[in-house]
Amino acid sequence: MNSASVAAPQILLQACGISKTFHTAHGPVDVLHELDLRIEQGERIAIVGASGSGKTTLMHILGTLDRPTTGRCLFQGRDLFALGAAQLDGFRNRSLGFVFQFHQLLPEFTALENVMMPALIARQPRTTATARADELLQQVGLGHRMQHKPGQLSGGEQQRVAIARALVLRPQLLIADEPTGNLDSATSQEIYQLLDELHADYRLTMVVVTHNAEFATRMDRVLRIADGRIETCSK
Ligand SMILES: Nc1ncnc2c1ncn2[C@@H]1O[C@H](COP(=O)(O)OP(=O)(O)O)[C@@H](O)[C@H]1O
Ligand SMILES: [Mg+2]
Repeated sequence: MNSASVAAPQILLQACGISKTFHTAHGPVDVLHELDLRIEQGERIAIVGASGSGKTTLMHILGTLDRPTTGRCLFQGRDLFALGAAQLDGFRNRSLGFVFQFHQLLPEFTALENVMMPALIARQPRTTATARADELLQQVGLGHRMQHKPGQLSGGEQQRVAIARALVLRPQLLIADEPTGNLDSATSQEIYQLLDELHADYRLTMVVVTHNAEFATRMDRVLRIADGRIETCSK
């Protein structure tokens, strides 16, 4: 290995020329305009910006939950939107973890079962899935709540379960869209602290949409989206 390759940052995800237009009954709505973004391995990026500026639309495209109108997303050099539907589903399940404002836990299952679910869907043996879910729930501070159902947990606890679930298959990238949008400020601090710990423990790469300025400044970079463009980038 030569010194140049040692020094080069490893680009995990590169988005090039991403535009998005929604076609509605009232005509086209241009939401994202030729965005370029590179996410390095281990990097933490905060996305900030006013409501309606296009943050969620961008998260959905980076997470392959939606397709851009133009542009490409390369994950470790692989052109994601050129993949077939089954391959893309497999990629998303294996490589990405998602946390949304509303946790979207399954109400009839326990915390442990919710966290295990992606591993079972990925056909991991039940014993492996249980052990991993148990470990993650301990890590997010819910070792004593594993058998509780979402309705028996507080909002912050539910979001911790959602974070544990997002990590059960050891994703390479965590995508979080306003993960504390539904929580009070003290509980939000705990969630941000948990994200800090996960980065310290695993050097987990993450893109987090947040309105919390203090948390944003702890990240490696802060991107401000305005009217579907990356307006400023600090650090
Ligand atoms: N499926 C859709 N169809 C039409 N317009 C949409 C759709 N999704 C989002 N938009 C519009 O795109 C803009 C950006 O939305 P969004 O990405 O959710 O913003 P943010 O997350 O920054 O609040 C908004 O004007 C919104 O109304
Ligand atoms: Mg949003």
